[in-house]
Amino acid sequence: MHIRPMSETKGKGLEAGLTNYGDPAFAAYLRRSFARSMGYSRELLAKPVVGIAQTASGFNNCHRGVPELVEAVKRGVLAAGALPLDFPVISLGEVFLSPTSMFYRNLMAMATEEMIRGQPMDAVVLVGGCDKTLPALVMGAASAGKPAIVLATGPMMTSRYRGERLGACTDCRRFWAKYRAGGIDSDEIETIEGRLATTEGTCAVMGTASTMAILIEMLGLMLPGTAAIPAVHADRLRAAEATGRAAVELIGSGRTIDKIVTQASIDNAVRALLAVSGSTNAVVHLAAIAGRLGLKVDLDRLNALSDETPVLVDLKPTGEGYMEDFFAAGGVGGLLQRMGSLFDLSAKTVTGETLGDWVSPDAAFIDPAVIRRADDPVSDKGGLVALYGSLAPKGAILKRAAADERLFEKTARAVVFTSLEDLSARIDDPDLDVGPDDALVLQNAGPKACGMPEAGYLPIPKKLAAAGVKDMLRLSDARMSGTAYGAIVLHIAPEAADGGPLGLVRDGDRIRISVKERRLDLLVDQAELASRRAAMPAAAPAPPRGWAQLYQARVLQADEGCDLDFLRARG
Ligand code: FES
Repeated sequence: MHIRPMSETKGKGLEAGLTNYGDPAFAAYLRRSFARSMGYSRELLAKPVVGIAQTASGFNNCHRGVPELVEAVKRGVLAAGALPLDFPVISLGEVFLSPTSMFYRNLMAMATEEMIRGQPMDAVVLVGGCDKTLPALVMGAASAGKPAIVLATGPMMTSRYRGERLGACTDCRRFWAKYRAGGIDSDEIETIEGRLATTEGTCAVMGTASTMAILIEMLGLMLPGTAAIPAVHADRLRAAEATGRAAVELIGSGRTIDKIVTQASIDNAVRALLAVSGSTNAVVHLAAIAGRLGLKVDLDRLNALSDETPVLVDLKPTGEGYMEDFFAAGGVGGLLQRMGSLFDLSAKTVTGETLGDWVSPDAAFIDPAVIRRADDPVSDKGGLVALYGSLAPKGAILKRAAADERLFEKTARAVVFTSLEDLSARIDDPDLDVGPDDALVLQNAGPKACGMPEAGYLPIPKKLAAAGVKDMLRLSDARMSGTAYGAIVLHIAPEAADGGPLGLVRDGDRIRISVKERRLDLLVDQAELASRRAAMPAAAPAPPRGWAQLYQARVLQADEGCDLDFLRARG
């Protein structure tokens, strides 16, 4: 038996990127020898190699199905004539990480990039799903420059509680708010705790994970129609097998992420984000992906698109349905068909087709209750808007589709919390001087301060919740879970810990918001702000070591995707 010369194969396979012993022939011989110890035939070891970046982890419930998906990808790769080799990358389970999974997204992106670059693979399948994993995988693969295709884990199915459908995690928050307000007792909340997340897969609503899967399909980086397939559906395994086959097709095609994704693709993704009323986090992740490619998510452009893009998808937290409904209603294909004229259909995709080729020419079934017609939208304007002003010189984000519109045009008195610790210590203090017309302000929860946790969904103070207050104006430099809702202004940039004016707000200041004018202003005169700035304490010392030190020194603000400055595309 002889190993075929590499000229007969499509890729370079295991002979690429040899270990440096100063003798390439020896390195190739040693690699083949060690690879054979895994039981592969020499014939298989001579094939092109498809790497499979897999993210199964005992600390990631959303990725429980990844091992089965990887096996299905392998079937597809083998059937198409290549050798599948899976490898682990860092996995980020949203609720298992402290201080927040966002703090580790760039670390996962770096690990992904280096493992794709450092190991001999001709193409790579990126398997992920939970909030930060898909953006991290795409960021890393975009920088690594090898052909890549994404496979999402898919969303969870809903469950039932007393006849009511429940799905993580909008319902988690709804019941917790009810519990905080004294509407249900501890026995009931414990029962509900066991019903919220009952299958493998990502959160069941239009949270960050679902939004990112949809946007990555819109960017042309996964097979059409695969973003929304539920995690437990047999179609997901078929999608995995097809993704494996497609990865083999990618070898030698030159279709790397930087060749597929253009500014038009980014615009398409922003439009899709607005039309599905997706997670605010997606703005940050999309900006980070764009930044890896020398592209940009411009917040003025987002506002312009928001004014002309209707919300068509009726899912929680904005509307009523769950991801399983979106899949049954037609998924991303249904959205493309409904909104085709608003997208740039000439955008390229990983299959070599254009986005327009993915629009079904025949009238496939689209459930109008879930993916509305353009003449019957959930809202005639997009779900998100960016705000600018003296309080947010580099911008802030508001999910207007999931908020009480009565709070959009007002001047409010600030009630300030200087940190997350201060917030948890005082928010439920019966003596806290706060009313429903005030604005709760959280400082020092941005990227440099503490990794930008999803703390922007400040709880309504207990005494106000008990009195029936359901929403109030809340502002911070933090993020918010994609499954949350409320009049919540997020991602204020620059953050307080980076010298942003948010850090100068004091109790009793007046803050003016106007969603109509896209403004967010601190109504305090410049002399007063200058004297407050001069009296600010010195910055806390840098973290003493490791990732925390590197992260804090090099992380960018939300408008640049919170990537590390040296990881963005040069120039
Ligand atoms: Fe993983 Fe929501 S916790 S997607």
